[in-house]
Amino acid sequence: MRTSTMNKLTVPYKGLGSELGEQELVAVKQAMSQDDLCSGVYVEKFEQAFCKYTGAKYAIACSNCTTALELGTAALGLKAGDEVITTPLTFIATSLPLLKRDVKVVFADIDPRTFNIDPAEIEKHITERTRAIYVVHYAGLAADMDTILDLAKKYNLKVLEGAAHASGAEYKNKKVGNIGDITCFSFQSLKNMTTLGDGGMVTTNDKQLEEKIRLLKTFNIKKLPDRTTKYGHRDKELPFY
Ligand SMILES: Cc1ncc(COP(=O)(O)O)c(C=O)c1O
Repeated sequence: MRTSTMNKLTVPYKGLGSELGEQELVAVKQAMSQDDLCSGVYVEKFEQAFCKYTGAKYAIACSNCTTALELGTAALGLKAGDEVITTPLTFIATSLPLLKRDVKVVFADIDPRTFNIDPAEIEKHITERTRAIYVVHYAGLAADMDTILDLAKKYNLKVLEGAAHASGAEYKNKKVGNIGDITCFSFQSLKNMTTLGDGGMVTTNDKQLEEKIRLLKTFNIKKLPDRTTKYGHRDKELPFY
């Protein structure tokens, strides 16, 4: 054992959240000083910054990754009797939107070297009822997306990626969020990037999916009523979904 030459690295464990400081306090105050405390200008800025960061064309912020997965599943139009292939090594949120629609969840085993879904196992489970593959990029390591996308193309399947712990992860020089049809992120306080508590994002490069997801998120409300009231004015004229 080379103990004498080994450097001991101490990594602080923060059970309840990431390192947060002055910058975050300033940002919270700024957000609280705007008229729209919900879906205001800062959410729009965050979506734009996330698009720039991931390379995705569209980013839709939402309350958490569980909601992102619900929105993504609804947008894909999955229904009872359809089958979706996914990994058994994940949080229950991956399967919940499928189970509530009576979509059959089919588990394909993982590759023990990466803990990610094994594409060879996926292909064994494809049937004529399979509609989508739900990938999870486990603990920040991207799954074997080229092989998965090839399978999706071959069998005409959609690919939704669970990136709850993969903000900033890359696959062959591409950021996760800019690869499959839909990607769902979590910014919950234990994740590698957090929005001070809960938070989520859906990204896609497909305009039709983006429109569907925005409408689903806002209960089909396309335009805010005029908010010029005695209580103040909107921060600026913002397009509302
Ligand atoms: C793989 C995976 N998907 C989804 C979620 C749900 O994320 P959220 O807490 O933002 O709803 C988690 C949470 O740990 C997760 O690990």
